[in-house]
Amino acid sequence: MTAPNDAPRRRHARTLVTSALPYANGEIHLGHLAGAYLPADIYVRYLRLRGEDVLYICGSDEYGVPITLTAEREGITPKELVDRNHASIKKSFAGFGMSFDNFSQTSREIHTETSQTFFKDLHDRDLFRQKTTEQFFSPSQDRFLADRYIEGTCPKCRSENARGDQCESCGSSLDPTELIDPVNAQDGSPLELRETTHWFLPLGDWQKQLEAMFDAHPEWKDNVQQYCRGWFKDGLEDRAVTRDLGWGVPVPLPDHEGKVFYVWFEAPIGYISSTREWAAAQIGQDDQGDPDSWRTWWQSPDTRLIHFIGKDNVFFHAVMFPAMLMAHSEDYVLPENVPANEFLNLEGQKLSTSRGFAVWLPDYLEKFKADPLRYTLARNLPETRDMNFTWEGFLARNNNELGNNFGNLINRVFTFIHKYFEGTVPAWSEADSTDLDRAALAEVEKELENWAAHLERFEVKAAMEAAFRAGQAGNRYFDESAPFKSRKTDLERCAQSLGVIIQILRMLAVMLAPVTPFAMEKLWSWLGMESDLWRGGWDEGRRPIPGGRPLGKPEILFPRLEEEQIREEIDRLQALLGD
Ligand code: MF3
Ligand code: ZN
Repeated sequence: MTAPNDAPRRRHARTLVTSALPYANGEIHLGHLAGAYLPADIYVRYLRLRGEDVLYICGSDEYGVPITLTAEREGITPKELVDRNHASIKKSFAGFGMSFDNFSQTSREIHTETSQTFFKDLHDRDLFRQKTTEQFFSPSQDRFLADRYIEGTCPKCRSENARGDQCESCGSSLDPTELIDPVNAQDGSPLELRETTHWFLPLGDWQKQLEAMFDAHPEWKDNVQQYCRGWFKDGLEDRAVTRDLGWGVPVPLPDHEGKVFYVWFEAPIGYISSTREWAAAQIGQDDQGDPDSWRTWWQSPDTRLIHFIGKDNVFFHAVMFPAMLMAHSEDYVLPENVPANEFLNLEGQKLSTSRGFAVWLPDYLEKFKADPLRYTLARNLPETRDMNFTWEGFLARNNNELGNNFGNLINRVFTFIHKYFEGTVPAWSEADSTDLDRAALAEVEKELENWAAHLERFEVKAAMEAAFRAGQAGNRYFDESAPFKSRKTDLERCAQSLGVIIQILRMLAVMLAPVTPFAMEKLWSWLGMESDLWRGGWDEGRRPIPGGRPLGKPEILFPRLEEEQIREEIDRLQALLGD
């Protein structure tokens, strides 16, 4: 058997995977997971299974206006707020099985230094443009206000609560200077227009190179291509990279008090800071011991950089950050792919964190295990269009698919072997295979290849479908070969069938490992596998398990869930919809 679709990947020595840095202003919810996190974790685990050199980087995004407002409301400092939220996000990600190699914070010193040095590199080579504009200043708060914290009367529909960036009543997008009687949205106090000077990155200067990057990647997802081609068509504009704010990375230039980097300039650099932090932490841990080893991941042309994001982040990862990397004097790798996902709806409605219409990860993990949620989301990923999560759907996926299709098969086979074959793999051989045996093995092997080929192309949902079909094939084979009957009539045939099913379970363990890692690590050890699943387990996962090998004692991998366990969750959401 040849490994599927190897060519595009093998040209690279290593893969650097990032997930969008979550904003440290609250908890992670299901929408986040389905967008930028679960697909990335599945992909990373897949690469580790294949024995590839992969580094998975993330961290929390901790600057910007919303954080200062939440901190003010809670009467704590922004740093206290983000530290608390960072700890909580990190904990729930761990509970969910996110396997980051490093999860940093943008409020750390290493990020201040990394982003300031990055800025200086571009600034010193005159790649920014400085412009003076008039912006609304709030004398009562002694600060400039971001557009959406300005309120006034809409010039188009006369609604009185239009925001500086848009009017919710008529949907017009606005410039704050268009508002009639603009005031500070927080306290209603009057505003003044004041001049302020900022640095801009002229993205137009990089448009040709950006378009060339797109031309080199016709395989990028349609959604990403379409958004970006649209922006190219309109022509890229100058983008501000600084802001007048107290909470952010200070602009490292003289006479720039009160100026910090715009979050969207500095946050993506957080991927680099987090990698540097990871490299520094390796010293003393293993023989790598080189604080500069982060450069291998960012500056070797044989590194593949993959950014997993939600669709609202496409501009920053496919246009702005690549332009920044192109502009830097050192040779950074450009993204090899930017798999962006659409949105996940909940019970048929748009998520709304302000209304509490969401499912938060820490709440979920208090009641349920990670694997069923990972599985359900993976089967419903919004890869090409918005998808919907329902609690009923979750129950069905858990009971019918994890439980019946996979869990029962695993459980029946292990129980049977422990009962009648002293817990060792029954004697079987490829040579003694019947047509039925051969057809079943061939079918599952085929699905294993489909599975891998889909994951190579970031098609997680299709990969999961292949895994599911493999499970169905396993069940069909168990019923048709009927070892429970042949046990009484033909013990050799019975052993042969069970030997074949063990091979099917071995392949199912591989296919389910990235999505339900907690359960599959157990199955892997019950099967007596010797290699570390996450360091090239694929190879052993493709080798037949010989008869005579002792097997572990199974437990229920995917317990059934009852209707009443999800009732409370449904009721809570329905009550919110009723308001
Ligand atoms: N915090 C942003 C969001 O939640 C994502 C930042 S990604 C980064 O949408 F690249 F800028 F870090
Ligand atoms: Zn309006």
